Amino acid sequence: MTPRARLVVLVSGRGSNLRAIADAIDAGHCAAEIVAVVSDKKDALALDFAVERGIATQCVPFSKGDDRAAWNQTLLDVVASHDPTFVVLAGFMRILGNDFIDRFTRRIVNVHPSLLPAFPGHDGPAQAIAHGARITGCTVHLVDHGVDTGPILAQGAVPILPEDDVPSLHARIQRIEHRLLPAVLQALAIGALDPDSPRHPQLAFDEAASLVSPSLLP
Ligand code: GRF
Repeated sequence: MTPRARLVVLVSGRGSNLRAIADAIDAGHCAAEIVAVVSDKKDALALDFAVERGIATQCVPFSKGDDRAAWNQTLLDVVASHDPTFVVLAGFMRILGNDFIDRFTRRIVNVHPSLLPAFPGHDGPAQAIAHGARITGCTVHLVDHGVDTGPILAQGAVPILPEDDVPSLHARIQRIEHRLLPAVLQALAIGALDPDSPRHPQLAFDEAASLVSPSLLP
């Protein structure tokens, strides 16, 4: 039997994407296992979810004034100790150091709430509304040394409605994230997406969703 991809998921917040990955795995739609959930915040709800699901958790807290290089090295050591196939940033709100990115080159997957390269950084949904965009969405991409600049693996689009505020738009984007991220992880796990390809092949959303479950197609 082919070994399942080993995922270490980094989180800072609610963990709805973590839940989506765990649910896809449990449903047999993602040939991976979450070997650890690691947070920079000890009160992250995502950690509570991981504990409920019996997933190993670790916290590498960062407080204002802490030595950033030391924190980054500890995080690297903790993540590397789990020998991940892929490191997944599922709402992880800290910038990773160069050593960390170099250690897991093209093996770090991030989900971002905009259609990159538009609206990188914090508050993707707020930026989209402020710019008067009519369409936005989410992007799953490999992490490089820039902020939300790495090769794009898949995107899903959503409309921005006149009555939208940031929470309503973010919720609409997240419904797509919750299908797209597990689908991309499945594609990576089974080799349908090659993270080392120089062409950065994208997974079209329908194709991505069908890898999760045909019944989830819009
Ligand atoms: C997601 O919207 C993701 O795009 C962004 O952070 C949010 C995390 O949400 N990077 P959750 O913690 O998975 O609910």
